[in-house]
Amino acid sequence: MASWLLFAVFSCVLLLPEPAFGITRHYTLDIKMHNVTRLCHTKSLVSVNGKFPGPKIIAREGDQLLIKVVNHVPNNISLHWHGIRQLRSGWADGPAYITQCPIQTGQSYVYNYTIVGQRGTLWYHAHISWLRATVYGPLIILPKHGVPYPFPKPHKEVPMVFGEWFNADTEAIIRQATLTGGGPNVSDAYTINGLPGPLYNCSAKDTFRLRVKPGKTYLLRIINAALNDELFFSIANHTVTVVEADAIYVKPFETDTILIAPGQTTNVLLKTKPSYPSASFFMTARPYVTGQGTFDNSTVAGILEYEQPKHAKTSIKNLQLFTPVLPALNDTNFATKFSNKLRSLNSKKFPANVPQKVDRKFFFTVGLGTNPCNHKNNQTCQGPTNTTMFAASISNISFTLPTKALLQSHYSGKSNGVYSSNFPWNPIVPFNYTGTPPNNTMVSTGTNLMVLRYNTSVELVMQDTSILGAESHPLHLHGFNFFVVGQGFGNFDPNKDPKNFNLVDPIERNTVGVPSGGWAAIRFLADNPGVWFMHCHLEVHTSWGLRMAWLVLDGDKPDQKLLPPPADLPKC
Ligand code: C2O
Repeated sequence: MASWLLFAVFSCVLLLPEPAFGITRHYTLDIKMHNVTRLCHTKSLVSVNGKFPGPKIIAREGDQLLIKVVNHVPNNISLHWHGIRQLRSGWADGPAYITQCPIQTGQSYVYNYTIVGQRGTLWYHAHISWLRATVYGPLIILPKHGVPYPFPKPHKEVPMVFGEWFNADTEAIIRQATLTGGGPNVSDAYTINGLPGPLYNCSAKDTFRLRVKPGKTYLLRIINAALNDELFFSIANHTVTVVEADAIYVKPFETDTILIAPGQTTNVLLKTKPSYPSASFFMTARPYVTGQGTFDNSTVAGILEYEQPKHAKTSIKNLQLFTPVLPALNDTNFATKFSNKLRSLNSKKFPANVPQKVDRKFFFTVGLGTNPCNHKNNQTCQGPTNTTMFAASISNISFTLPTKALLQSHYSGKSNGVYSSNFPWNPIVPFNYTGTPPNNTMVSTGTNLMVLRYNTSVELVMQDTSILGAESHPLHLHGFNFFVVGQGFGNFDPNKDPKNFNLVDPIERNTVGVPSGGWAAIRFLADNPGVWFMHCHLEVHTSWGLRMAWLVLDGDKPDQKLLPPPADLPKC
């Protein structure tokens, strides 16, 4: 500690350039069972270090993280560092059966990676089955020493993590849904930092309170860790300034409401009132829903409380409490306007390096579908009909997880029987994607990868389908940030739509909401060798197969190759 302090002092005095190296930070995350009570229901849940949500992990750009994860629970486990690029360190990415076999009971694994060229709010979560329902926490990357934010320095920084609380065991919920082919039960509450707040029964004591001083600026690091719901969020009688999304600085803009999909993060500046307002303010979140299925339509509330002056007349309990007005649950108009406001900062220090030329263009459909009911003895299923089970797919392939991890299979040259390298660049059977759905809604199944040569510049259009209803899908790509160069409704038109692409300052992120009944076009440079999962971050859709993986091959130079696997990499 003392030595870097000295160094920091020296670099300030002598105006030395920033050191290119960071420090190594060690963390131990013990995955343990832990009793938690919410809404008067107590359950034993899988937790990190006996905390719910999990502890904050903090690092600086350039640091190396060595995170030892020890599995003390009966479940298999793996952790993902959502949004971390993992340059050449794919072994530490975390999705089970994609980049690693799960960590088995009693075993441990050290996730080893260096944070290169990233700073901002990210998060970590379990990446196996539905365990991320309770295993998640903030992952905060500060800028390098002496590098300021491109906005006024906040008085305080506060992580606000949205989650979903289920009274029942989430592993049982997804097990049941997989058996019956039906939609899984929905959550009982939304939470802010694990707390549902006073709008639920038996919950007033579990309320997140943000205590502020007047006339100060607070940086709220907002993370949507909910399993299955995009969320609107607003603070009564306050506006916020959005300054960052998915750990990328954006052109600041003011808004009274934000929309955040599962997997996404949004940093906002909250400027408090200039003087003590003699009131408190609800901060509420509830879902944005476009699909047909049942959903949890409840509202989580936290309270923004101003520190009271000494001679305040009313006690804080008796203050008037204002409530924000959130958009309607299906307000796609708001969603579109909000996503159009998000632009990369694109400054000298933080340029938007949008690929201007494209080597390969892909067109994938994303949406729901069905599988035939697989029950014996004439038992019926609970899918959209009693002879079908819900499924979801990319380009009509519902992705099956292998029983060995893809990255090891690739690295050791033993891909036979594990995956095939023939993901279609275009749907095999084109149809009117957003028109009247086809009669046949069946998906095919497989473990198909799209192979890219190192440094391929990719353009990918993701097209929602109206099969079983159009729906917004937050698509997340591991291993890369991408630029969202275009979005629209209806079917993507390859002749017209590219003319309107923004190749100057599009938002750069790791998770994009493909508009309901529309499409999103992204570009990225495949400069990171490895196997990279891409999936809908609505966990139910991932479970149903809305997922696939990219295989990016090594480049020729030594620094363009995937590093060798660590010795403690879990075995299947
Ligand atoms: Cu946030 Cu593949 O996950």
